[in-house]
Amino acid sequence: MEATASLINSGLPNVVFHQLDVRDNASVNSLAEFVRTQFGRLDILVNNAAANGVIADVEGLKALKIDTETWLSGMAAYLVGGVIQQTYEKAEECLDTNYYGCKRVTESLVPLLNLSISGARIVNVSSLRGELKRISSEWIRNELGNIDTLTEEKLDELLQRFLQDFKQCAIEANGWSIMLPAYSISKATINAYTRILAQKYQKMCINCVHPGYVNTDLNWNTGPMTLEEGAKGPVMLALLPNGGPSGFYFDQTEMSEF
Ligand SMILES: NC(=O)c1ccc[n+]([C@@H]2O[C@H](COP(=O)([O-])OP(=O)(O)OC[C@H]3O[C@@H](n4cnc5c(N)ncnc54)[C@H](OP(=O)(O)O)[C@@H]3O)[C@@H](O)[C@H]2O)c1
Repeated sequence: MEATASLINSGLPNVVFHQLDVRDNASVNSLAEFVRTQFGRLDILVNNAAANGVIADVEGLKALKIDTETWLSGMAAYLVGGVIQQTYEKAEECLDTNYYGCKRVTESLVPLLNLSISGARIVNVSSLRGELKRISSEWIRNELGNIDTLTEEKLDELLQRFLQDFKQCAIEANGWSIMLPAYSISKATINAYTRILAQKYQKMCINCVHPGYVNTDLNWNTGPMTLEEGAKGPVMLALLPNGGPSGFYFDQTEMSEF
């Protein structure tokens, strides 16, 4: 409500607020019902909610003074062992928020997006952590990267396999990304899901985007980019003209490789 008030005060009078917990079906359905009764349809859905899947010793992390290049490359995984703790519960929460949350909200709002008269847009906010080149297992890259064989069931199976490997401390051995593993696979599956959705709903423009390394709570305010800079890619995709690209991954405002 504080955020709503600040947007209204900045000259956007039509901003309204509705509570949403993407992990809770009742909350998701309540939002859909609110949109249906208030507006009758939906034009743009931005799936932005995310959890990072870890517990950090923030002071300890900041003391390491990891530079942006090392952080983005993923090499920081070898430096942060003592300050970033990964637990099975956090990994599960991360997948349930980032991937299944995006799916729950999308499924519940698709009927309203189908009623859009301007051609609906879905923007799935992803991350460079989900890029396939960051996964060392060729098998996992193929499973996620082959649009002809991708299904939602396949993504469920892959995430179950990830959780099993997590439990058995076999993340690195089985070729999953070692930098924020749960977060990374949640974003890789969001990218794959984006492609499945784009094939299914061909009248909409449905894309996923890495917003950049932005100064937010998610990365304990280590990112060098401002919120305004980070919003550019998602906003561009939310406002794509009719006939614009669909089923693609963008690195900020540029189309990029999955
Ligand atoms: N910051 C970066 O450098 C960066 C890089 C790549 C990708 N991204 C992506 O950008 C998006 C935005 O993240 P951010 O950086 O702005 O981080 P953030 O400030 O931590 O925002 C994450 C948001 O997700 C919400 N959220 C978490 N769990 C939720 C749930 N169960 N139901 C509803 N909302 C929930 C949080 O709500 P509350 O505040 O109410 O908890 C928060 O508003 C995420 O998808 C993230 O993965 C960020």
